Amino acid sequence: MNDLTGPSTRKLIIAIDGPAGAGKSTIAARLARKLGYVNLESGAMYRALALKAIENDISFDDEPALAGLADESKIHLEPTINGNRVLLDEVDVTQRVREADVTEAASRVSVHPRVREWMVSHQRALGIKGGVVMEGRDIGTKVFPDADIKIFLDADPVVREQRRLEQQKLKGITSQSVATEIRERDFRDRTRAASPLVPAVDALILDSTALSEDEVLRRVEEAVQKKTDALR
Ligand code: DC
Repeated sequence: MNDLTGPSTRKLIIAIDGPAGAGKSTIAARLARKLGYVNLESGAMYRALALKAIENDISFDDEPALAGLADESKIHLEPTINGNRVLLDEVDVTQRVREADVTEAASRVSVHPRVREWMVSHQRALGIKGGVVMEGRDIGTKVFPDADIKIFLDADPVVREQRRLEQQKLKGITSQSVATEIRERDFRDRTRAASPLVPAVDALILDSTALSEDEVLRRVEEAVQKKTDALR
């Protein structure tokens, strides 16, 4: 493969969207490392707001209260070699936001248009200069509809559940409810009225069900290479 980061090439905005457990985070992190870009996990911002709602006893259905909460929050993502460090009002909540109660809450607070507006404007500000791989559900459709590269990474639900279980085992978490959690989140993400999870019309759709992580990465890199060549 050629040098993807040559001096004549401007820094790209790369959007990776898809359902839970499709492998977005791993691919986005590996791609960003290879390109010397930053990897931003947009879902972590929804998780941070959800955590704050839990801590403040705010209903996940109360859109005005959630929008107000977002307005008074400082949510920062710090890209590191092991994924994003998540800071909520300057407190490190990286581990906490991955717990099951926050996962469920994030899925519920993210249905509200006013919450999404807040998130989208902050996410745009983070990525607008390029040199970024941003992953989420609406990056290629709403956050960066003009992204240089859009990938929609999908996989069979059963395979996504198995992968998620493996990840949790590695972290020492044992959960019987991964299948239910993924199905419920999928349903909510795909059917919500505001920015439902759908591939952008110009996205490269990759089904990773039968592909290794290396193979998925290779195909994404091919797309980056093509774009980089076109820009030279
Ligand atoms: O990617 P994740 O599992 O950390 O995302 C947590 C939740 O946030 C997910 O259930 C839906 C929501 N989300 C979203 O609506 N839009 C995004 N761009 C990212 C996440």
